[in-house]
Amino acid sequence: MRLDPINLYDYEARAKQVLPHNNWTFIDAGAMDEFTTRRNRSAFEDLTLRPRFLRAVENRDLTTTVLGEEISMPIMIAPAGSHMLAHPEGELATARGAGMSDTLMMLSTSSNYSLEEVSGAASGPLWFQLYHRGYDLTEMLVHRAEEAGFKAIALTVDTPAPSPKERDLRNRFQRVAELGNFRAENRPESEISGTDETPSFEVSRTAPLTWQELEWLRGLTSLPLVLKGIRTAEDTHIAVESGVDGILVSTHGGRQMDMTMGAIEMLPEIVEASKGQAEVYVDSGVRRGSDVVKALALGARAVAIGRPLFWGLAVDGAEGVHGVLELLREELDRCMAYCGQTSVRDLEPNLVNIPYGWGPGTMAP
Ligand SMILES: Cc1cc2nc3c(=O)[nH]c(=O)nc-3n(C[C@H](O)[C@H](O)[C@H](O)COP(=O)(O)O)c2cc1C
Repeated sequence: MRLDPINLYDYEARAKQVLPHNNWTFIDAGAMDEFTTRRNRSAFEDLTLRPRFLRAVENRDLTTTVLGEEISMPIMIAPAGSHMLAHPEGELATARGAGMSDTLMMLSTSSNYSLEEVSGAASGPLWFQLYHRGYDLTEMLVHRAEEAGFKAIALTVDTPAPSPKERDLRNRFQRVAELGNFRAENRPESEISGTDETPSFEVSRTAPLTWQELEWLRGLTSLPLVLKGIRTAEDTHIAVESGVDGILVSTHGGRQMDMTMGAIEMLPEIVEASKGQAEVYVDSGVRRGSDVVKALALGARAVAIGRPLFWGLAVDGAEGVHGVLELLREELDRCMAYCGQTSVRDLEPNLVNIPYGWGPGTMAP
């Protein structure tokens, strides 16, 4: 039994203590009023569990597959830029931590270490998260990811324009970050850098990809394609018709666009619209093993964590990332027992009380 940290919030509190204030704020912040960031959590809290007892639950199987890759539990690492904000070993440490927990890591286009360096450090499966920074750069990144053994491309679709976080503006946050994937490219920052508009950081204004260009993207690679950030049934229908393999339902942790529902609230609508033709995952606000049960009961195949990976990194590097993942594993395992469940692949909607007004058709026009 682990005594300290006892839960993810302990990691969060320690990370806040050890990180420089402005780095902490960049990781923690959401867009504008941070309504969506809060709602990611409150929506999870609005969902309650329906436990089942007197069942044989001593053997519980947490393993699953994502796009055919075996992982030891349905909890993955979400893609996030600049892990060196939290630890000098950055994404290398995260990859090691994910590998220790035998799960999958998604690596951001905006990582500090290059995708080749990270694949060298990883022992678990990797997906490459793609930000489109122009046709030539996308082609180059996708080819390199395939070459380096990444198992899927996850295109982030929910950042059509860069966006600042107001707390970063107030802090005059100076982002010092090498973008490892572009080290050899010799391009100006304004062509390659991110979606987080911070003072003194020139961000790319490349026009985003459109539905019409997905075929072009698919033509670059034989890797499966996941769309990250889909939030409506309407877009899910188009995604499935376009032949995407996976959908990661996400609000980007509320970091880019404010005033949407929490990700878990969107999940039922998207699961229904996908009609089993694409795997569906969810991130944004996952902090407890019970959140994982809720997400899987509503049809997600797996969840991913964003900010908590930084908390783990800040506290103890690779060991910290591993620690965060293992706390979630323990909580998930216990919650499964309390819900009378023996396999994470079999969770059904009747395990949760769904608040009135949630679900397909109740919100969408
Ligand atoms: C510091 C930070 C950087 C991020 N960078 C990216 C990124 O480069 N690409 C991306 O698709 N999502 C990025 N995200 C969003 C995460 O992938 C994920 O959607 C989000 O963090 C999940 O919410 P959570 O933080 O509540 O777990 C970032 C998140 C954080 C906290």
